[in-house]
Amino acid sequence: MALSVKHLLDTTSLTADDITQILDTGRSFAEVNSRAIKKVPALRGRTIVNLFLEPSTRTRSSFELAEKRLSADSLNMGGSTSSVVKGESLADTIQTISAMNVDMFVCRASLAGTPHLITENTDAVVINAGDGKHQHPTQAMLDLYTIREHFGHLDSLKVAIVGDLSHSRVAGSLVPALKTMGATPILVGPPTFQVADPAYWGVEQTADLDAVIPEVDVVYLLRVQLERMGGAAIPSKREYNRLFGLDERRRSLMRPGSIICHPGPMNRGMEIMHEVADSPQAKVLDQVTAGVATRMAAMYLLLGGENDAR
Ligand code: NCD
Repeated sequence: MALSVKHLLDTTSLTADDITQILDTGRSFAEVNSRAIKKVPALRGRTIVNLFLEPSTRTRSSFELAEKRLSADSLNMGGSTSSVVKGESLADTIQTISAMNVDMFVCRASLAGTPHLITENTDAVVINAGDGKHQHPTQAMLDLYTIREHFGHLDSLKVAIVGDLSHSRVAGSLVPALKTMGATPILVGPPTFQVADPAYWGVEQTADLDAVIPEVDVVYLLRVQLERMGGAAIPSKREYNRLFGLDERRRSLMRPGSIICHPGPMNRGMEIMHEVADSPQAKVLDQVTAGVATRMAAMYLLLGGENDAR
């Protein structure tokens, strides 16, 4: 069965069935990724353009590896090497590249809505690889994958999403996806980082981290988005760490069997302490591994693949 969406721009448009298909197909690709020869012909002959207009290490390499392992042909375009810096409009750039018959654009941009703008200038499929403070849907898929692998299910789980909520596209995608799958997100952050209207998402929001920690199955830490503060006052690293950082004392309050996630890159010593980041409870590297498999799944399904990847 195909996905209900043409593009992957956000998680609010995805049904539970879409998400389940991506996670299940991701499982088949995780198996491919554990082989000595990590390549399948699933997207042979397809052309994918990676348009990364904002710095990115793990997301970009994750998409590039996913494309190679699906045997797609890919083209990497970055900010400083594309004609966008010569003053060409994004619309013209997209129309020009589209005229070369490409099948998919993967776009990361600092301006929210850029991936949507691309869809208006091409017939190709578009994946949002993170746009401003808006959405980062493939991050949510790899997060759900990691959580589901650990617990065996997603429904009825409680997930605390902690930290810089108001600047976070990761929370923007994760909250609706968790809700669609029957889990309960709880937002936790200092008042200056809280979202203006948690009722819009239909979730609870609090500043009391110590009260929430023993209640949840997953503590999902967000990176403090130092580059997106726009001059707003932020607490010092030490102060933030004292009030909202996950240290050994707070980790010891967590439920047995519960896990810690973080999208990376981690600000060690700020939202997470070294000893916690490197503890077996932290699934940060499992999330990275899941990223390649779930991105393979999303690209494969969006380009018309059937559910059984092999
Ligand atoms: C996230 C991003 O860029 O939004 N990181 C990522 O995709 N690896 C999270 C973050 O930068 O905080």
